Amino acid sequence: MTSRFSAGADDNRIELSLHRYPDTSDANLQAWDAADEHLLKHLMEQGLGNHSHIVLVNDSFGALTCALRALYPALKLTFAADSRTSHLGCKANLDANALNADNIEFKDCSNLASVATGALVLMKLPKSLTFFADTLCQLSQAEGETLLIGAKAKNINQSLLSLIGKHFGNASASLAWKKTRVISAISDGKARSAIKPIQWQVPEFQLSISNLSNVFGAAKLDIGARLMLSHLPEGSFSEVIDLGCGNGVLGLRAAQMYPTARVHFVDESAMAVASAAQNWQQNGFDATRADFHWDDCLSHLSADISADLILCNPPFHQGEAITDHIAWQMFNDAKRRLQYGGLLHVVGNRHLGYHVKLKRLFGNCQTISSNGKFVILQAKKQ
Ligand SMILES: C[S@@+](CC[C@H](N)C(=O)[O-])C[C@H]1O[C@@H](n2cnc3c(N)ncnc32)[C@H](O)[C@@H]1O
Repeated sequence: MTSRFSAGADDNRIELSLHRYPDTSDANLQAWDAADEHLLKHLMEQGLGNHSHIVLVNDSFGALTCALRALYPALKLTFAADSRTSHLGCKANLDANALNADNIEFKDCSNLASVATGALVLMKLPKSLTFFADTLCQLSQAEGETLLIGAKAKNINQSLLSLIGKHFGNASASLAWKKTRVISAISDGKARSAIKPIQWQVPEFQLSISNLSNVFGAAKLDIGARLMLSHLPEGSFSEVIDLGCGNGVLGLRAAQMYPTARVHFVDESAMAVASAAQNWQQNGFDATRADFHWDDCLSHLSADISADLILCNPPFHQGEAITDHIAWQMFNDAKRRLQYGGLLHVVGNRHLGYHVKLKRLFGNCQTISSNGKFVILQAKKQ
């Protein structure tokens, strides 16, 4: 679905057509929100000052990047996001609007200090406050940058401003406009260390898990994953994909159960992929048995990768939007990558109705286990 996005002041106004990534026909989901508009409005009113470089952090599908590229063609831009779909979405929207991506630098969110020095940083408030705090700490290590954060007004309160004060510097919020506010923050010049990964154990399988700040289920083992761990299929498998791996806990257990298998860990979060790699190493698995992929489902994996077992605990939201289209894409990609006779194991909330989707796609779907809340389903490629 294309949304028309309009930004700028009367004498410098641009119109863009923007898509989410992957595109969706759901008219309620658009590629930008009022906080994007507010950040741009704020910037146009205040002016760029003497900034010649803008860093955009968590710019979902590139609405801010595309708008700034169109409004200020000579400005240096850095697009920083942990999400692979966000990178792909931004690049697709730049292309669709014939905007030049040549002097746009694309980064994940692991080393922001190296790119932010002297820049104006425009950030969308992420869902995870731990990730937000980590981002602030990294930005505090750069010098002389100014930070503008766009968010829904209902998510901005005194404790959020205090968190910014603790990890970056003094912050104040604008008046509300379209139910959003822009927070302006000025670095206090003190460099903080990045937030340390959160560590926990899965004692029943002797696994030790480390999670970077933006990893799903960072604080404890997900209850769906726990059920999945005790119901992995018996037998021998040689190529396993942990699809939407998060910290990699399912793939690590697969490596224990199928000691000769090669395991591919795939996630769209760069921090998830880095955590899975860290966990593979810290649990003493052989480095030559695993591959790590930062990808949107399985869309960019090399064509020669196929599997006889795919494990999947799919997300049921994208950013703040509740949606099952990623689960659907995961199941479709899994079917394409499975060898004949190969199995897809899925865990999901009962009410999500994944069995209907799997039955439609594979022509079969077996319930392996269930409890009051979750169900483990298995589909076979025939
Ligand atoms: C419910 S979590 C499961 C994490 C882990 N496998 C577990 O069981 O604890 C879903 C994972 O899917 C990842 N994800 C979301 N969208 C994705 C996409 N388009 N491609 C690949 N991974 C995606 C999320 O980053 C998250 O780590």
